[in-house]
Amino acid sequence: MNNFSYYNPTKVVFGKNTISKLSSLVPQGAKTLIIYGGGSIKHNGVYDQVINALSGREVLEFSGIEPNPRFETCMKCVEFIRENNIEFLLSVGGGSAIDATKFIAAAYYYESDNTWEILETSGAKIKKAMPFATVLTLPATGSEMNKGSVITKEATKEKRSFSSPLCFPLFSILDPQTTYSLPKSQISNGIVDTYVHVMEQYLTYPVNNQISDRFAESILITLVEEAPKVFKDPNNYDVRANLMWAATLGLNGLIACGVPEDWATHVIGHELTAFHGLDHGVTLAIVLPGVMNIMRDEKADKILQYAERVFGITQGTKEEIIDKAIIATQSFFASLDIPTRLSDVNLNETCIEPIIKRMVDRGWNLGENGTISPEKVRQILIDRL
Ligand code: NZQ
Ligand code: ZN
Repeated sequence: MNNFSYYNPTKVVFGKNTISKLSSLVPQGAKTLIIYGGGSIKHNGVYDQVINALSGREVLEFSGIEPNPRFETCMKCVEFIRENNIEFLLSVGGGSAIDATKFIAAAYYYESDNTWEILETSGAKIKKAMPFATVLTLPATGSEMNKGSVITKEATKEKRSFSSPLCFPLFSILDPQTTYSLPKSQISNGIVDTYVHVMEQYLTYPVNNQISDRFAESILITLVEEAPKVFKDPNNYDVRANLMWAATLGLNGLIACGVPEDWATHVIGHELTAFHGLDHGVTLAIVLPGVMNIMRDEKADKILQYAERVFGITQGTKEEIIDKAIIATQSFFASLDIPTRLSDVNLNETCIEPIIKRMVDRGWNLGENGTISPEKVRQILIDRL
């Protein structure tokens, strides 16, 4: 097992009708800004629950955070905060609203006017952030209980991430009932995102970490088991609750303790979103089977373990079992009606070279061993045409 340190200060309040607890959780007397997206919270009753819980307090709102939140919009919000002397931020929505809030919280106190530098330096220079909390409505990113954020700069079509220990939410409210209104495509995106977060922290090489491996496998198996149920029985509370908690545990740092991490699928996926606007989950469903195939030798031991423990695949030669594991993974994604090939989203080989150029320009070599070179990324994307 590798050495690790683990820190997670976010308080999680999970369960039915928990949004009302905002009244005691939001710091008394703090002028609060509610930050949200395009309005889904106004259609599903979440907005009303938040406003009711905060009645009698000084509350303003900033809406219009886009999916794949834009730097430009976030900076407008920072301006709004300066004009209105806001002291506390409350993000209500999915990963995009939460990620935007993290960036806004850090950008407000950033010492330089060049706040895009936060992304260019991966958050290393953040010295202070405004306190914030979240009400989650889309289980997927784990952003409600982690310190990371992903922001897109529209002007240059760049999608970059940062993290800072100052960007953990103070608390997050997770009421699975808020997810009943999700469209099918967003349920699928969330399941795939959670699945791939786990794979990024699991499908590397063995370090004899039984705890992290078994935690990871339990999340993967839960997703495979619960996914068909959520489409058959969308108002089943326990199914929604299991999916929501799985997503949070998939990326709150716990399963990363003492294991190597990959993240190549995410980095490549972010470029597909930056250039072509694809949903995050869709990019991952397309890229992961390619990473498994092209990196099959380096990842062989863990792919064999994954095949047996998650899908019960034991028959065949080593190469046959790896092939079956890749097919099982892709079939699971396809069962969610999510695209799994570039051609499914009307992309062809012309999408590949701009991504490779970016990898070369930034000097990026990806993967748990740093061996996923730009040439390997090319092979991965060709594999997914
Ligand atoms: O904007 P509104 O109107 O709220 O609608 C949203 C949006 O259109 C809608 N939605 C959310 N909750 C809903 C709902 N519709 C009906 N009922 C509900 N309960 O769903 C759409 C997508 O929302 P979004 O927040 O964009 O989705 P998600 O949670 O998947 O977040 C994706 C973003 O998170 C980043 C991604 O790159 C992407 O930018 N990620 C953040 C990570 C992190 N901070 O740790 C890690 C991830 O790997 C990921 O990169
Ligand atoms: Zn993700």
